[in-house]
This record gives sequence, C-alpha cells and structure tokens, in this order.
Amino acid sequence: MIKYFETSKEFHLHNEEISYIMKILPNGHIGQIYFGSKVAVKEGYSDYIETAPRYMTSYVFEDDWYFSLEQIKQEYPVFGTTDYRSPAFRIEQPNGSNISDFTYKGHEIIKGKPSIPDLPATYLNDASEASTLRIDLYDNITDVKLELFYTIYKDINIVSRWSKFVNEGNQVQYLDKAMSMNLDLPESNYDMLQFSGAWSRERHVKERTLEQGIQSFGSMRGISSANHNPFFILKNHDTNEDVGNAYGFSLVYSGNFLGQVEVDTHDTTRVSLGIHPDGFKWQLKPEEEFNTPEAILSFSNSGLNKLSQNFHNLYNNHLIRGPWKNKVRPILINNWEATYFDYDEKDLLNIVETAKKVGVELFVLDDGWFGKRNNDDGGLGDWYTNKDKIPSGLDGLSEKVKELGMEFGIWIEPEMINKDSDLYKEHPEWVLETPNRNSSHGRNQFVLDFSNENVVNHIFKELYKTFKDADISYIKWDMNRSLTEVYSKHYTPEQQGEIYHRYVLGVYRLYEKMIEAFPNVLFESCSSGGARFDAGMLYYAPQAWTSDNNDAMERVKIQYGTSYGYPISSMGAHVSKTINAQLNRYIPIETRANVAFFGTFGYELDLNELSEEEIELTKLHIEFMKDYREVIQFGQFYRLKSPFEHNISSWMVTDDEYVIVGVYREINEVNAPFNRIKLKGLDPQAEYYGCTDKKAYSGSELMNIGLITTDGSSGLQRAGYHEASNDFDSRIFVFQKTT
Ligand code: GLA
Repeated sequence: MIKYFETSKEFHLHNEEISYIMKILPNGHIGQIYFGSKVAVKEGYSDYIETAPRYMTSYVFEDDWYFSLEQIKQEYPVFGTTDYRSPAFRIEQPNGSNISDFTYKGHEIIKGKPSIPDLPATYLNDASEASTLRIDLYDNITDVKLELFYTIYKDINIVSRWSKFVNEGNQVQYLDKAMSMNLDLPESNYDMLQFSGAWSRERHVKERTLEQGIQSFGSMRGISSANHNPFFILKNHDTNEDVGNAYGFSLVYSGNFLGQVEVDTHDTTRVSLGIHPDGFKWQLKPEEEFNTPEAILSFSNSGLNKLSQNFHNLYNNHLIRGPWKNKVRPILINNWEATYFDYDEKDLLNIVETAKKVGVELFVLDDGWFGKRNNDDGGLGDWYTNKDKIPSGLDGLSEKVKELGMEFGIWIEPEMINKDSDLYKEHPEWVLETPNRNSSHGRNQFVLDFSNENVVNHIFKELYKTFKDADISYIKWDMNRSLTEVYSKHYTPEQQGEIYHRYVLGVYRLYEKMIEAFPNVLFESCSSGGARFDAGMLYYAPQAWTSDNNDAMERVKIQYGTSYGYPISSMGAHVSKTINAQLNRYIPIETRANVAFFGTFGYELDLNELSEEEIELTKLHIEFMKDYREVIQFGQFYRLKSPFEHNISSWMVTDDEYVIVGVYREINEVNAPFNRIKLKGLDPQAEYYGCTDKKAYSGSELMNIGLITTDGSSGLQRAGYHEASNDFDSRIFVFQKTT
C-alpha cells in the first residue's frame, strides 16, 4: 500500500480506490503531488511539482528563479522562508528566531498503525488493515526531529496523519503552532461545507464557495464546541450526495481547534486542521516530545454520501472501543426533562416502573443526585450521594431499578466545580483561573484545573468510591460551560500556553481511568447537548448527546448535519414531551419517535403523563426500535433530501436485508405536488417487500422510479378520501429484501 521510488524520491500511498503522492523536494522538504482517485502506481509524477519564474517571488537557491516554496504544494510547510501562506507549524527559538529548515533524513514503512501517546486515535483490529509511512525530518540548528505519520487504510478511503516533534538538542524550544495536517491542492474550485451553529442548534450545514484569502472556523472555548465542529468538507461545485469528488477532514480531538482553507492568488488551496494556534505555546524541553492529535482525511469520487460512509465505517470499526462498539444500544429513559432537580426516590421509581412496562431497558438518573445539588448554584465537585433525595444510596437505588428489570445509569459532570461545594472549601486553588483577574462563570459554575494530575486523580477517587458498589451500566458525562481565563497554578509561567491542551489531556486521562475501572459501562458524552460532539470523544464514549434540543423537527436538521461526519450509532436521540421544552410547540408522538429512531433512541419525559393511547403507541415504537436498531445503528446510512433545502426531508438506512426510510414534512401545504423519493444503495436486481403496503418492489424500481410519499396534502383534504395531513408529519417505510 506504500511504495517509495528511490530515483524520483516519490512516495505513493494507495489502496484500491485512492492515491496519495508526495516527494522529497530539492531542499529536503516534502512536496505534495496528488490526493484523489487512484492513479497508476508508477514512478514519474515529479513534473506535477510546478514552478514558474515570477516577480516579487523569493527563491531558495541562488541563480535559480524557479524553486520558491510559495509556489510549491507541500506537506508540512515551514514559516518565513519563501512561503507566505499559513505555515503548518512554527518553532520559537532561544535567539528569538522562528525560521526552521526541516530536511529529509529517512523514512520507514510500518505494517499496521502506531498509537499516539496520551491521545485518542483510530486503531486497527488487525495489522493488515492499514500501513503507515513515517517520514523523518531534522532541523540542524534547533536539533529538533520532526516525524510525519501517514496511515492509509486498505478497505476504507482514509489517510490519517499526525506529527511528532522531538527535541534532541540541549536548549528549550517553543512550539507556537503545530497543526495535525496540511494539504495543498492544485485547484480552488471548491465549495466548503462546515457544520456550525450554537447551543440547541448544533451542526447545521453551512456552505460557501472558496475565495482567495483565508476562510476558517474553529473553537477557542476549550471544547470543540456547538458553534463549529472539527470536521469539514471540500467538494467540487457539481458534487452532490451521489456523484462527484469530495474531501473530508476530521480532527480526533476535543479542545480548541482551527480548520482553515487558504486560497492563494494562483488558485492553490491550502487546507489545514489542528489545535488552534491562539492560546497555544508548548515548551519543548530537551529530550521531550510533542504529538499533534490525529487528523483524518477522506476522499470520495462518488459524492457526499460515500464520503460520510467512509467516516461512519472508520469510526464504528476503528475508533469506538469496548464492549459496546458493535452492540445495539439500550433504549433508555432519562429523568432530566421529567423532573429537573426536583425529585425523590419514589418519583424516580415511578418513572422506572412505567418505563419497564413499555419496554425501556435502561433508566438514567440525571443531574441532582449528589452533594447539595438542588439547582445549578451548588454541588458540583461533591460526588457523594445526596441521601435526602436518595436514602438508599446509589447502590440501593440501582438494586431497586435492577429488581424492576431495568439497567441503571447515572449523570456526572466531573470537570466542574461550584463555589458552593465542599470541594471548593477544601481546594479553591483547583479552579482554572488567572491570578488577580476576574473569574467568569458559566451556568454558575467554574472549571476544575484538569491540567493538574492531582485534580484528575482526586475526582477519579471520589467517583470510584461512590460508584464501586452501585450496579451502574451507563454513565452520561456532561460538560456545561466553555473555558475562560485559562491559567494553571500548577505550571510555570513559561508553560501557560500548554494549559488548554493539557486540560484536554486531563479529560482523556480521567476517561481512560474510568473505562479501566468500569470496563462494561456504556459512556455517553454530553456538553450542554452537542458542544463536544467530536471524534476525540468517540474514542472514549461510543455515543454522544446530540443536542439539548429535543424538538423533533429541529432534530431532523441537527441529526442530518451530524450525519455528514459521524455514525448513527453515536447520536443520542430521544422522544421528549410535548409541548416541548425548547420550542414550546406540539409535535405528534409518532414524529418524535420517527426522528429519534435514527440514533440511539430513548425517552426524555415522564411516561406517567402520557395518555393511554400514547402509551400504546410508545410500546409499538419501542418494539419497532428493538426489531430494527441493528440495521439503523450499523447499516449503511444515506441522506436523501435535505431539511436545510426542502420542506419534506428524508434519509434511509439499509443492510443486507432491510431498508428503512424516514420521511419528514415540516409544514403542511395546500394542494401540494405529488411526492416521490428515490432510494439509494439497494440491489437493483433484488425484490423488496414493502412491510407497510404489503407490495413487492424491485430494487431498480425504488431507486429509479422512486417511492411514492404523496400524502393527504396533495389535493383537497377530504375526510374519508385521504389520510389526515398535519404540520410536523412524518412516516417510516420498511422494506425487506426477499430475493
Ligand atoms: C446539560 C445536559 C442535559 C442535562 C443537564 C443537567 O444541559 O445537556 O441533558 O443533563 O445538563 O444539568
């Protein structure tokens, strides 16, 4: 999968469908030649490193008017020497200089894929699934070694990248930028899709056409954020869901990040992704190393659905770990929107009993069970059970829940502290704050200094003490504010630029300790909904709470946007009450379920408040999900019609046997057109049995003529002639392959 051509000094990484070609340049740096559909694996692509003599361009070699880094497409460009575009990294040296010259020293082709110390990363189940190229570069003045890692997967169109800096000299160096990847593409005729929003409006699809100059997005919140996601796509203007070229870039990281695309005035596109350089400055002492997070690059020549499926496949099989990796996820009920902070043991058991009757499998006790936590003013940091609310303790309560036939899960927010807590009285110095400056709060809470190992160890000890005797099978790990005034008293002034990153490493460390201590627990990450929905988190928590917004029609958009980069198995999706807490509007329970099916599925309400008719429907919904969750969570997902562009939107999943289609209409229409949806990914020769209308269809028919989804809104709404048609209407179609 990786070939090095000695004469031309070209590297060619390839699988059956993609090629990634680079070369060692005359100055010893690494040039980028090509990334895209597979091309012949042969020597002789060096001519694609194009240069031209141009005025106002600076050249590396005397008497040479051609070799300028400004014109050359590169792999990991340095700062300040003939390339005026954004560099991939920068090293500030003891004499104040930022100039470096990392030249090729050697390389190694490794079977398999090495892990990245202290960081989440995609992994192999077997060494034959991928090969890795490590290119070694060295800067003679700083004595810093730079290793560029490239892993190419055999059966998925993915190249993964990261960099390692090792200080082999005897002076301290400062890394003030270290991106995970840089890719220079020869054209600029792309549209960029990013997934941006805000709390309760996460991962909406935003599209723009690239223009000369820098276009970027990122997070400086200490978390990947609801505002922008560390995932983006570049596609040709005529690429759609099914045809055309597209590149996807995803960062396996949960903190500050920058996604940037720079188009230069000769229409070259420089793509970079990594830790945000603002607020980052890493002290690299002699003998120390720094590893960047992993960046995932994918290419599809068959449109965006295929690109997303590459990411779904990679994350389901090579990122998510543990016993829940390939297992269907339990149908849960969470008490948050049913009770908020106001409950006692009896209220909870009431919810559990009814939930058991309708078929729910797991009860999750949300916020408010610990310390003096009766509202959001206090309690965070005190991870012992509040016996006033839960007299039998977590062990007693979990036992009772088990006796009623359900699993027991619990909510934590371990990274936080309230001033009104015992922990704050004991350790006020553990707050992440800048000396002599105001400390800003978010939701009345402060952030613990997770860059300090002692803090992480203490929180682990407390959680372990409280959880070890309870029968816990699920943990929802929340994180409800962005970081501010980031400074750690635990580190020297010279290391303060490390704290944002060290905080994230501390979070990862606690996750790893918790997973080790409770290996069978299913973790769900959460950050006021989906403010830390990223690939880094998926390495620890197989699923994430997609959004605090449970309004079903809003969720169609949020889940649709999220599906571009993340698998259905990872999206926490629940049926909530109506009138809904976020938008105050009524949405039928069928539609709430029809949307939540396309995720992990569960309930976020008090089932005791439902009518008998709704309870009967709920039983049917749960039965449906139990029958089909394997297909939904692990089948091939296709976006069919975008809710960002249409009133009626649609998506589907399919495995070898079943096809499940969801159709959602936001607003009812008068005398609407007929409506059809063309399915995707079916076997054209096979016959599919429509489980709803009991008719047989051919795969080619459903994909080419389409599925009729016309409803009562077409024509007059005459009683007796058409089924009723409402706002927020939805339908699910199931087909079974019969031949
Ligand atoms: C956050 C979460 C919610 C809930 C509350 C509890 O907002 O996203 O689901 O757990 O915290 O305080």
